[in-house]
Amino acid sequence: MKVLISDSLSEEGVSKLQEHFNVDVSTGLSEDELVEKIVDFDALVIRSGTQVTKKVIEAADNLKIVGRAGVGVDNIDIDAATEKGIIVVNAPEGNMLSAAEHTIAMMMSMARNIPQANASLKAKKWERKNFMGVEVNGKTLGVIGLGRIGAEVAKRAQGMEMDILGYDPFVTEERAKSMGVELTTVDDIAKRADFITVHTPLTKETRNILDAAQFDMMKGNARVINCARGGIINEEALADALKAGKIAGAAIDVFTSEPPFDCPFIDLDNVIVTPHLGASTEEAQVNVAVSVAEEVISVLNGGSARNT
Ligand code: NAD
Ligand code: MLT
Repeated sequence: MKVLISDSLSEEGVSKLQEHFNVDVSTGLSEDELVEKIVDFDALVIRSGTQVTKKVIEAADNLKIVGRAGVGVDNIDIDAATEKGIIVVNAPEGNMLSAAEHTIAMMMSMARNIPQANASLKAKKWERKNFMGVEVNGKTLGVIGLGRIGAEVAKRAQGMEMDILGYDPFVTEERAKSMGVELTTVDDIAKRADFITVHTPLTKETRNILDAAQFDMMKGNARVINCARGGIINEEALADALKAGKIAGAAIDVFTSEPPFDCPFIDLDNVIVTPHLGASTEEAQVNVAVSVAEEVISVLNGGSARNT
């Protein structure tokens, strides 16, 4: 059996697969190169770099499984895969703590202007008065999407004495209560929260869940965070709100188009950005690689998959 790994994958995952299969690691392939290469592979293992399009699926005559070493499967044409009987698995738990920690890091960095102050001092300036921050203690954090990562963010923010508002149509009052979260609407979060963080998948319901109407409702000192998927917060509306001083800041890890060099807010001083680093820790990358390798081994050996 042959396994193609088309994005960089932690060594622990690669060697696990090599124990069972003939493994080819070829990263940075264009769609056409992948279409040409995929023909006789039984499994394809990817991260977020590879786009598994309909064209790729159609060319994949032997493919039985696509393994996504991470959470989001938005870079895979699931309908085309399902139509061809190809199993799609992800690694839903391996990077959740890293993504939650990155969210908290982004919130704190934004609250205390750490990236801006770091850049200023390295440019040999001593500008203490330009970088007055805010405490998070006693502030309200709105969490939109209370799944694995949202719940971990809420837990960590409570450790810093923040009050948590939450919105998630699939979470019961009972579950929210057990998390110490007050369930409410997106608009109520927009009106009341000092910090708002989104942790949903990107779907037609969540696209632009924070848009111009919500920015108009926000407090002038509100700050928003997106470590989930580009497009959940409308990028144009966010840029307008930041430029008009309707909100105080934003911390963004993910973008509608990556790399986001044409993004409308990337150059603004009241925005901090990271290049999709939510899952970029040694621990998370080992976890997701091993998890996906185990799924591929199971499926190619005739077993079942856990995370379809
Ligand atoms: P999850 O499936 O555990 O949780 C998602 C939550 O969103 C669920 O509770 C679901 O009920 C909720 N939801 C769905 N539709 C909703 C809606 N219309 N309104 C409000 N809530 C809604 O997923 P997760 O593991 O917590 O991941 C959350 C997001 O983070 C995903 O988009 C994932 O791709 C992304 N992610 C990003 C990074 C990164 O590197 N920045 C790393 C890991 C995950
Ligand atoms: C994910 O969905 O797991 C994240 O976007 C992280 C990643 O793939 O690197």
